[in-house]
Amino acid sequence: MISNLLIILIVLVLLFFTALLILGFIFLLSGLISTIFGAPYVPLSRKYIFKILSFGDLSPDNILYDLGCGDGRVLMSGLSNFNVLKAVGYEISPWSYFKTLLSIKQNKIKRIELFRRNCLKAEISKATFIYLYLFPKLVDKIAYKIAREGKPKTKILCVLFPIDLSQHIEFKLLKSAKLDRLTAYLYELKTP
Ligand SMILES: C[S@@+](CC[C@H](N)C(=O)[O-])C[C@H]1O[C@@H](n2cnc3c(N)ncnc32)[C@H](O)[C@@H]1O
Repeated sequence: MISNLLIILIVLVLLFFTALLILGFIFLLSGLISTIFGAPYVPLSRKYIFKILSFGDLSPDNILYDLGCGDGRVLMSGLSNFNVLKAVGYEISPWSYFKTLLSIKQNKIKRIELFRRNCLKAEISKATFIYLYLFPKLVDKIAYKIAREGKPKTKILCVLFPIDLSQHIEFKLLKSAKLDRLTAYLYELKTP
């Protein structure tokens, strides 16, 4: 009897550590995928995101896109603090994607669309406001994409890494400001 209990206990402990190992592996792999594809996950505080979105004049008539949405906190702030029409997120890291999906389901949030996909393959033609907190190389590639596929007058809010306007003449810088430690840049896609 005691030996049976001991076996069950050992199996449970083994299962627990295997699950931990698998989760750890997925976590590390997700971090690696994010970094390889463009930018690691570096979250900003919710208070700071509110400040940045306020700087960007996000308004209720906007369709907000976060390309590389991490755990979805920008999307959620867009909905709860600015009442945007819709919030759409693209995220390449399985870990962050599932974390966001879980909180969307748990909180029964309706107006969010979430995709686990490379944001370079995002469908952005309906966006009116695009938020980017990514490394410069990826910002550069996305700027080409927005110039090709975006709607004129779409606002683009970049955090930390700006769009290089000498390469991307389709964008107009509306304003920029240092908000605490990071600089934010607000652009508009010009009418062709
Ligand atoms: C600096 S974090 C920003 C997270 C979120 N936007 C925020 O401000 O809280 C960058 C995010 O972009 C994701 N990412 C990096 N390259 C990507 C790509 N090519 N497509 C989609 N997501 C990407 C990373 O996994 C990470 O979650």
